[in-house]
Formats: sequence, structure tokens, C-alpha cells
Amino acid sequence: MTQWIDVLAADAVPEDDVVGVDAGGREIAIYGVEGAVYATDNICSHGHARLCDGFLEDFEIECPLHQGRFDVRNGKAMCEPLTEDIRSYPVKIENGRVWVELA
Ligand code: FES
Repeated sequence: MTQWIDVLAADAVPEDDVVGVDAGGREIAIYGVEGAVYATDNICSHGHARLCDGFLEDFEIECPLHQGRFDVRNGKAMCEPLTEDIRSYPVKIENGRVWVELA
């Protein structure tokens, strides 16, 4: 079953940056890139680091711990030392709020 969770105000999404949110107990990273909004897991697949503490460049988030990079559009692991993708989530903006669909 999937459900849409209201995670933050649309105007609180940073421009070309990342913020961490809680979505029903799950840690999610929300990215604003070129006016669009993306959501992935906030915890790196390599170790226990939060991607919201990392560095966003274009569509790639760099993990703060060992500099692994993920594509925020699909969670794909782009380089070493990463061996596993992270999950990405559908996002919608409705009534001035950002919603993330969790499965
Ligand atoms: Fe993210 Fe190692 S914990 S790259």
C-alpha cells in the first residue's frame, strides 16, 4: 500500500540545496534543483551518514562521509565506494505543501 505524506511547506524547499525531513518515521532528503523537487532516502547506502549534510551539485548529492554520489532523480549510486542505490520517492506539490509517496 502506498500513502502520500505531507513533509514540508513548498516554500521551505531550498533552491539548489537539500533538507532532511521526517516522513512518518522515515528519514527522507528533499532536494530543490532548478525549480523541481526530488525526494530520496536520507541515509547513505554505504554507512550511517545523512545525505542532507552532504553537498548538492546539479542532480548529484555527495555523501559527507566518503564522498559517494547519488543521482537525486532516481537514487542511483554514481561512483565508488557506493555499491547500492538508495530509494527515490514520487513527489507532488499540492496546496503549498510538498508530499512524498511512501510504499
Ligand atoms: Fe556515504 Fe560512505 S557513508 S559514502
